[in-house]
Amino acid sequence: MTILKILEFPDPKLRIKAVPVETIDDALQVIIDNMLETMYAAPGIGLAATQVDIHRRFLVADITAEKNKPYVLINPKIIKKNGLEVTEEGCLSVPGYFDSVERADSICVSYLDRQGNQQEEEMGGLLAVCVQHEIDHLDGKLFVDYLSEAKRQKVRKKLHKSRKLQSDSSIML
Ligand code: NI
Repeated sequence: MTILKILEFPDPKLRIKAVPVETIDDALQVIIDNMLETMYAAPGIGLAATQVDIHRRFLVADITAEKNKPYVLINPKIIKKNGLEVTEEGCLSVPGYFDSVERADSICVSYLDRQGNQQEEEMGGLLAVCVQHEIDHLDGKLFVDYLSEAKRQKVRKKLHKSRKLQSDSSIML
């Protein structure tokens, strides 16, 4: 398996809107395995294809401490959102920066799994936050977009100064 290079803010490639996956073939399976490997190694709990410069709609996630419950969501769509919750988020593409973001606290997502089976699943808690964050990546959106321009400027400067300051890997999405 291969560890892939993760694009970092403000790379303009992070702004490309991903297109739907049309075929789930062996090449895609290899990319998925590499993305899981890359996410676990980072370490993080979610990774969208956009972050590794692949502009197709799929993502991987695993919120377990044991790293033994990988999710693969292909062409994910949020079909229902409920409630609001504020979570401290980080992002593998914005290393060393964490801030509060408000999102739905539970969602219903339809997607294809890596075998191509249609799934529909209710998600809550950290998994719901993670999946919303990763789907944003597929739409070219970053969690810092929810912050004020002044704060985003600060993030740019901070990233410039210290690329490796990381605190809590459990919220690196
Ligand atoms: Ni992220």
